[in-house]
Amino acid sequence: MADLDDIRDGDNFGLNTPADTSSFYLKGMNSTDWGIKNRMARIFNRKSGNTVMLAFDHGFLMGPTSGLERIDLNIAPLAEYADCLMGTRGMIRSSIPAENTKPVCLRTDTGTTILTEMNHNVLISEEEAISMNAAAMAAMISVGDAATEASTIANFSKLVDLGNKYSIPVMGVTAVGKDMARDSRYFGLAARVCAENGASIVKTYYTEGFENVVAACPVPVVIAGGKKLPELEALELAYNAIDCGASGVDMGRNVFQSDCPLGMIKAVAGVVHEGLKPAEALEIYKSEKG
Ligand code: R5P
Repeated sequence: MADLDDIRDGDNFGLNTPADTSSFYLKGMNSTDWGIKNRMARIFNRKSGNTVMLAFDHGFLMGPTSGLERIDLNIAPLAEYADCLMGTRGMIRSSIPAENTKPVCLRTDTGTTILTEMNHNVLISEEEAISMNAAAMAAMISVGDAATEASTIANFSKLVDLGNKYSIPVMGVTAVGKDMARDSRYFGLAARVCAENGASIVKTYYTEGFENVVAACPVPVVIAGGKKLPELEALELAYNAIDCGASGVDMGRNVFQSDCPLGMIKAVAGVVHEGLKPAEALEIYKSEKG
């Protein structure tokens, strides 16, 4: 029982200060639960409203691709410069120190690799995400692929059910269908399908007309970097995406396959959080590279 001695009546009720009724700073999140908002606030910088997610989940499809041979050596040292780490349970458990306090966006679908027909995925259990203290869960939808569209959207929808139960936001990853045009019509459709199915974040690809993709998606959109580009082009990609309304990047190869990953992640952060122009951000990369 609490100590009942010296119970003091409250006398500081802030009567001249109305309760805060301002809305949450990320779009589409006002009606979500406190837990989802709190996790989103760990991922998205409060000041810029944006995030630099570092994606290193590629190995579950590709194996030890260039730059990801040793997550402990190549990725762990970059963690402090990212806002969020996106990876699989195996790599995070084995190769990211548990002292890491950066939020984790856990890749929660798995099942096939580049050696066979991809995207016949299933979900790992929600208990795994909870046990890993995930700030978000990510799963892919394969829009436009007749063989896997229905099963991946069903997976995604189930993941949102589970995420909402435990207040863990879900990020929709829009896969690029083999036969689909990589244009704003396709990515706009895929992003919207994620949002319609309850995504809190959508990851897609930058394309011409990207402002329409972002406008029609009522929750924050982040872009994947895609294949490795020259550093200036990768920074231009990030800049253009932010300029069109994206809320950040979930970038992998253009960071960890750079000849100076540390310089690159710092430069990307300069674009995403400080609005640096690509040429200005390139100087950060160059100076880190020495
Ligand atoms: C794709 O399914 C993976 O989730 C990657 O995380 C994503 O493509 C981002 O990585 P990158 O910037 O290398 O494209």
